[in-house]
Amino acid sequence: MIAHEEEIRRNLCDSDQGHVFAYWDELSAEEKKSLIAQLSAIDLDQVNRLIEIHLATPPPAELPSLQPGPVVPVEGNDPGVLHRARERGEQALHEGRVASLVVAGGQATRLGFDLPKGSFPITPVTGKSLFQLHCEKIIALRRRYGSTMPLLVLVSPHNHQATRDYFEQKQYFGLPPEDVILFEQGMLPAVDRDGRLLMASRGQIFLSPDGHGGVFRAMAKANLFEEMAGRGIESVFFFQVDNPLAKIADPVFMGYHLEESAEVSLKVVRKREPAEKVGIYVLEGGAPAVLEYSDTPAEVREAQDESGQLRYWAGNIAIHAFHLSFMEQLGREEKHLPYHMARKKVPCIDETGELSQPSEPNGIKFESYVFDSLAVARKAVAMEVRRHEEFSPVKNRTGEDSPATAVEDQSHLFRSWLRDSGILVEDENAQVEIGPLFALDRDELIRKIREDGLRGARKVLLD
Ligand code: UD1
Repeated sequence: MIAHEEEIRRNLCDSDQGHVFAYWDELSAEEKKSLIAQLSAIDLDQVNRLIEIHLATPPPAELPSLQPGPVVPVEGNDPGVLHRARERGEQALHEGRVASLVVAGGQATRLGFDLPKGSFPITPVTGKSLFQLHCEKIIALRRRYGSTMPLLVLVSPHNHQATRDYFEQKQYFGLPPEDVILFEQGMLPAVDRDGRLLMASRGQIFLSPDGHGGVFRAMAKANLFEEMAGRGIESVFFFQVDNPLAKIADPVFMGYHLEESAEVSLKVVRKREPAEKVGIYVLEGGAPAVLEYSDTPAEVREAQDESGQLRYWAGNIAIHAFHLSFMEQLGREEKHLPYHMARKKVPCIDETGELSQPSEPNGIKFESYVFDSLAVARKAVAMEVRRHEEFSPVKNRTGEDSPATAVEDQSHLFRSWLRDSGILVEDENAQVEIGPLFALDRDELIRKIREDGLRGARKVLLD
């Protein structure tokens, strides 16, 4: 071993992680090099801190005081406020001060799709992929506002190359390649119940993406704050790759966020039912927060108000507006996000030295969540939106929140746009698609149909 390797070995042994070298003598030179590279990239102090916090501290006996978070209502909003918000948002878009950022580093495990989730076909008639749909919306916005809004794409080491290949093969769906910026999130090791690092093979430790809260650090690492500032960007519209109904860079939302001088804003919808797998927007000990569904006890999920409605009704649809400088504070770690731990089944090398597929959770993964930034923001605001217009995530292979429901929800929305444009849709179940490049929203469709009638509509509606 050379000096650098010796030091790494000493540090790991001092942290009771010497077992990662158990098979050292049987590794090839190449494998040794790669294990050392992996180990040197880990921040061992951080890992030790995480182990200490999560394995040593007993879970808190009771939740801090909770209240429903204050939300700008979707209905009955002051038209003057909405009008001002729209104008402010449109101005920011015109002036090229808004970027969009999609998080796409996840592994689509529940969907059971091995390729990047963004390449999953999702539109009702032409089967465009999620990425194509998002890119076409951005092209439509760039045309409408005469801007060069970039798209930042968070990927993980697992899907970075496949995502890049996909965009290249599809020629970035017509966006200039320099305006589609892929950047990579960090990885963290997983540990067993005793805090020992799990091994993916005899010569590799197991690593998994550090959660979408890693987006800020990843932006700093990729020098995106300098790059965005250089392009005159001040605000970032954030969304998840899995939602085909995302209203990208919605001017009302962006404008409201700016009018309120918020550092982070979020959109919420009324929860479908207590068990729906969405985080809930609350005040936790007086501070805004999203309680993740997996961490929310049943009595909170099911709590009712005096009128028998869900007390915590505001479901997080993972759409945010950020002030760039706030993201930068998080990225440079002037402000910190906590890590959450999740017990997962992690395929790993067992005590016999063979790879085993556990049937029960055997490992602990650590992730940070982007919405924990609400708690450290100077100001955060939440806006309620209509689910059928803005939220239909693709999570599961079948059943709720699946490709089938996303296709139906898009068709349903487009049928309503057609009806509002005066077009009779006889078949209530007709699959309909309106491409963003033809009409980005209902109002644009109404205007086009009023001006041009149905001329060319058949072709463009399906295009
Ligand atoms: C997420 C939210 C939940 C919200 C719901 C709405 C979290 C922890 N929870 O739940 O509050 O109500 O969406 O649909 O996000 N991703 C990365 N890197 C990672 C992990 C995830 O980029 O390390 C991306 C994924 O590609 C995906 C998104 O983050 O686009 C959400 O991840 P997912 O695991 O699907 O979250 P949900 O459990 O559905």
